[in-house]
Amino acid sequence: MADILDLRQFRPGQLDALLRAEAEEWQRELLWDYESSLELIRQYIGARILPGYVLSDGTPQRPRPLGYGFFVYETHKGLIGDLYVGPRYRGAERAEERLILEHMIETLTATPGLHRIEAQLMAFRPEELAPVFSRHGFRAYRRLFLHLDLAGAAPAAGPSPWPIQPWAGTPFEHAATLIQASYAQHVDSLINDQYRTFGGSLRFLQNVVHYPGCGQFDEASSAVIADPHGEGLAALILVSRVRPDVGHVTQVCVSQRWRGRGIGRQLFEHVRANLRRRGFAAITLTVTAANALALELYRGLGFSQMREFDAYVWERAG
Ligand SMILES: CC(C)(COP(=O)(O)OP(=O)(O)OC[C@H]1O[C@@H](n2cnc3c(N)ncnc32)[C@H](O)[C@@H]1OP(=O)(O)O)[C@@H](O)C(=O)NCCC(=O)NCCS
Repeated sequence: MADILDLRQFRPGQLDALLRAEAEEWQRELLWDYESSLELIRQYIGARILPGYVLSDGTPQRPRPLGYGFFVYETHKGLIGDLYVGPRYRGAERAEERLILEHMIETLTATPGLHRIEAQLMAFRPEELAPVFSRHGFRAYRRLFLHLDLAGAAPAAGPSPWPIQPWAGTPFEHAATLIQASYAQHVDSLINDQYRTFGGSLRFLQNVVHYPGCGQFDEASSAVIADPHGEGLAALILVSRVRPDVGHVTQVCVSQRWRGRGIGRQLFEHVRANLRRRGFAAITLTVTAANALALELYRGLGFSQMREFDAYVWERAG
């Protein structure tokens, strides 16, 4: 019978086989080189500061990890960062993952002062974890993982009528102001509460640009358009390399007053041309299914759906 143990009892080496199997799966299923994220996870595990659980059999002296999950605290919020069970130990009903998830949710909901939990576990299909999340009162938001192949003939895209500038040198404050304003009354700010404030948008940017959690930031293709009427930005697009030949769009937004004039499309054409020139094979991104305008833009550009997953949010009553 397997036990649930505290992740902080483990050394990174004990989880190595599991982490390598996870990286292989991300590579195969999501075109994602998970190694840089795993390096960060290994460091935190090594420092024994990553809260989470390990499903393990074997003996107390020689535990054999079958799966693990971790979460992080961000002031008042808990983020479920990862959940993984090795393919050989995984049942069709996903009982092993659900058990680890139960423990993480119970710990987080019992944490004083914590009033929100967010989870976006892209590697899981919606039905695989839904029963656990719904039992604990989480709200689910359907998200789509989209893919655009860069091989084949380049579509004819004329020069942009908008002055697209490289990201380098953009003040983070301008980008954060644009992000916060772009997501006012937007479904994505229900999923990620960072978008609701300037400080949260700034933290989002710092994570994307400086930390490899969502791939390695790709400065060469990320771009902005200055607001012709002000000193801030009208639009931005941020890209990370999630594999040496795959660019993942981590953010795209256009200021409300400049929408519907082809700016979003032009930013994508810019990224597509830049990545194609540099030999990339594909662009990926995730989008909330309810974000109809964005979906229309992506479908028009030729993106196709690779898979779907759910984002989950829990808020403490009262
Ligand atoms: C999604 C977003 C970036 C689109 O930017 P945009 O500059 O308004 O988009 P475009 O003007 O280039 O429109 C491109 C396509 O999207 C669709 N579209 C965009 N705005 C539309 C509107 N107001 N009505 C109908 N269709 C629209 C159309 O299919 C359009 O195709 P077309 O050029 O052939 O008509 C913008 O709405 C935005 O910033 N939204 C908030 C942030 C967000 O949701 N980001 C995406 C997260 S995944």
